[in-house]
Parts: sequence; structure tokens; C-alpha cells
Amino acid sequence: MQTITLTRPDDWHVHLRDGAALRAVAPFTARQFGRGLIMPNLATPVVSADDALAYYRRIQAALPEASRFEPYLTLYLTEHTATTEVRRVAEDPRLLALKLYPAGATTHSAAGVRDLHRIYPILETMQTHDVPLLVHGEVTDPAVDIFDREKVFIERHLQPLTHHFPALRVVLEHVTTREGVDFVRAAGPKVAATLTAHHLLYNRNSLLAGGIRPHYYCLPVLKREEHRKALVAAATSGDPAFFLGTDTAPHARSAKESACGCAGCFTAHAALELYAEAFEAAGALDKLEGFAAHYGADFYRLPRNRDTVTLHKNRWRVPESIDFGEDRLIPFRAGDYLEWQLA
Ligand code: DOR
Ligand code: ZN
Repeated sequence: MQTITLTRPDDWHVHLRDGAALRAVAPFTARQFGRGLIMPNLATPVVSADDALAYYRRIQAALPEASRFEPYLTLYLTEHTATTEVRRVAEDPRLLALKLYPAGATTHSAAGVRDLHRIYPILETMQTHDVPLLVHGEVTDPAVDIFDREKVFIERHLQPLTHHFPALRVVLEHVTTREGVDFVRAAGPKVAATLTAHHLLYNRNSLLAGGIRPHYYCLPVLKREEHRKALVAAATSGDPAFFLGTDTAPHARSAKESACGCAGCFTAHAALELYAEAFEAAGALDKLEGFAAHYGADFYRLPRNRDTVTLHKNRWRVPESIDFGEDRLIPFRAGDYLEWQLA
């Protein structure tokens, strides 16, 4: 197959940052996707509807003039989130969900939740107003091995949570394990998961074998091959519980190539091309459209996009670096060739 045309996809998990970084990366996401669900973990987290609407306006201002990309915002859940904020999310069509970061789990998560039971009243309100909960599903317990943190989070926290709130819509963001896939499959129609392109394409050898490769470091960290295979099987199964969320997460080169490098892969420059590569390798290009353009919109009860995008089989070389305010940004697969190209 040399050309594929599909409904314009949406990215249901994007980090756009702020300021010069926002202006540098927003055009890459806007070029491919109709809509994006923007994560709230800014240096000063987006904790209220007012914060989110101000951020919405900064994102709009950073988009190219002719862009029709539509950002949707999430609020950052804290132990102090007020139920009035949940109601504002329920009422404002630009606000779609609240995001749970266990405190200390990842970038700018210090303001996150330490004791899940403290936010049960908020979850109750979210369930009542049918506002989805997005979850960074990793425990932060230092006694738990980093490769097991997702599995343990599901056992200790997510199973009990979904049991306690059976009508709450929940997205297990960037699922990375077989156990995560099994949990979502067994959980019923209220529970879904996003999958990144990098977790579909790579296992932990890419990060650690033959040298440490900081541009493959993200959280949750890449896992063993058996887990990657389970993710590919889920993404290509046609199960609407699994849909596209890139988790594109830009960090300046100096912050990645460091003695203590930041977590995050910047994939927005070639997101759909990378997913196409993963689906083609699985012999499942026919399943890409549902995953990339239909199931996420259905889950968020938004209309599917009406326009299309086209990918051609056309070898191209990913740039070595991209402008990023005062530093440079190293795109995923920098300097490497990709086989699919967005028209
Ligand atoms: O790799 C990641 N980067 N994982 C996250 O959960 C956060 C993200 C970021 O914001 O940099
Ligand atoms: Zn993320």
C-alpha cells in the first residue's frame, strides 16, 4: 500500500508547555491533528477552570494563522481541588477532564495527589457530572521497582477506584504493560487507555542496550518486549477502548542530555507517521483509522472529524534538531529515516 487516507486524527494526550516552548511545538501538533487534549502539568500547574481558559487563549495565540486545530483542556487534580471546578469542567465545552498525577510520579507532579482517598469526594462529583478522570498510572513508592510501577498502581489503586466509582469514565494514560491492557479490557466501557507511538515501537533495550539513550527516556519507562507486543495487539485489535494519545513531551536538549535527564519523548513532528510504522509492522494499517480518529472522539462524546489526512510511502529524514526558544529540541528519531510521510 503506497497511500492511506483517513479521517483526520486527534491527539488525546499532548504536552504543549508554555511561552517560547509552546510557540515552538504547537504548530507540529496542529499540522496533523484536528483536536488535542492538552495536559495541565505546566511549571505552575493548571489547577482551575480560570487557569485552563487563560492557557487556552495562550495556546490559540501560538497556533499558525490558518490553523483549525482545536485545543481541549484538562485540570490538574490536587488534594485541594474544589467541587465547583468539576462543575465548570462539566459546563464548559473547552474543558474535558481532570488529570490525576500521583505526587512525584513525573514532570511537574509535585502538586499531585499523595493520598487518593483524599480526592474521593471530587471523584464522586466527577462521576455525578460525568467528567472523565485521566490517570498517570504509576505508584511512587520508592520500594517498587520502576518497571513495576504501573502494574502495582493498577493493583493497589486503580482496581479499587474503578470498583468504587463504577460509572466514572477513566482513561489510563499511556498504558505500557500487558497488565494495563488486561485491566482495560476487563473493565468495561467506562474505562479506556491511550497508547503512545514510542511504546508501540520500542522496548527498554532501545533505551539501555549499547549505551544510554536519553531521547528514549519517558515515563512510564519503556518496558520489556512482551509488554510492547501486548500494546500493539491492543492498538490493532479494533477495540474502541484503546485510542491515540502521543504523550509528546518536549524538553530542551540540555535537560534531556544531562546527568539527570528529564522524562519525555517529543514525537509531534512525526506522530502519525510513527503510528503508521507500528501498525504496518503489525500488518494492521486498516485498523489505524479507528484507533487514531474514531475511538477517542467517541469516548469523549465529540463528533468525529469530517476532513481527512493522507499518508504516502515516501522516505524522509527527521531533522537533527528543532528550534525551541533559547535551546534546541531533539525530535524522536532525529537524523533517522521514516517511511511514511504526511501529505
Ligand atoms: O515522559 C513523560 N513526560 N511522561 C510524563 O508523564 C510527563 C511528560 C512530561 O510532561 O514531560
Ligand atoms: Zn503525559
